[in-house]
Amino acid sequence: MSDAAPLPLPVARSIASLRQTVGDWRANGLRIGFVPTMGALHAGHLSLVEMARARADRVVVSIFVNPTQFGPSEDFSKYPRQERADAARLAAFGVDVLYAPTVDEMYPAGATTAVTVGGVTDRLEGVCRPGHFSGVATVVTKLLNQVRPDLAVFGEKDYQQLLVVRRMVADLDLAVDIVPGPTVREADGLAMSSRNAYLSSEDRAVAAALPATLSFVASQLRGGLDAAPLLEAGRTRLLKAGFSEVQYLDLADAETLAPLDRADRPARLLVAAKVGATRLIDNVAV
Ligand code: PAF
Repeated sequence: MSDAAPLPLPVARSIASLRQTVGDWRANGLRIGFVPTMGALHAGHLSLVEMARARADRVVVSIFVNPTQFGPSEDFSKYPRQERADAARLAAFGVDVLYAPTVDEMYPAGATTAVTVGGVTDRLEGVCRPGHFSGVATVVTKLLNQVRPDLAVFGEKDYQQLLVVRRMVADLDLAVDIVPGPTVREADGLAMSSRNAYLSSEDRAVAAALPATLSFVASQLRGGLDAAPLLEAGRTRLLKAGFSEVQYLDLADAETLAPLDRADRPARLLVAAKVGATRLIDNVAV
């Protein structure tokens, strides 16, 4: 099919056209669900779409590869972009509008405002990816203002991001329900991620050690054992399996992400590790 052929669902490229559509729905008393994405959609995204569909009368999905959440040495330019294939999947899942703004529409010349969330951004991804969460918080604030949904669904795969968005929505009095979506996994446990497309077949085989290690360490932690030796054993296991670097494997309070010595309250086990050039993150409840 040629690139000029129309996409199989309505697409808004500008804030004005999006507001027109969503404004009409709102005037008719319809409940609006929203799923923000960066595209390269997989079954994990589509499960978030299904959750929005089940809770709302109309569903908007955004595809916007947000430059401000990528560091200078990260993968912004090579991030997978496949709008036509994504649009076909969204149409099949009953999405009402695809919102796909340009970078200039989102960040017009002269824009200088950013949103910064404190506390929950201090550790883990906040340390490994300086500036990342400010980019996420800024674009999510803008997307929520542009779409003005009743609810927005965010995947637990990016658990720290989910907490950042919840904090920001509470602190800025944004009138939207944030709904968490469970992580969807491949048959061997690997969490679905657009970045899995970067994995060679050798790296893909190694990557299966990530969920296996998380689930092993989490099961030991649930027995009330001290976290430090278990986390160390988990890091060693990942390196032995072929990961080149473990950036963190940490037990944290499920609400604040403060580090924990043992799982004596609702907790989360979170990991970031590199296989080849690909950085993978994952987490499980403990
Ligand atoms: O999780 C993502 O895909 C992105 O961080 C988000 C929430 C769409 C913001 O760019």
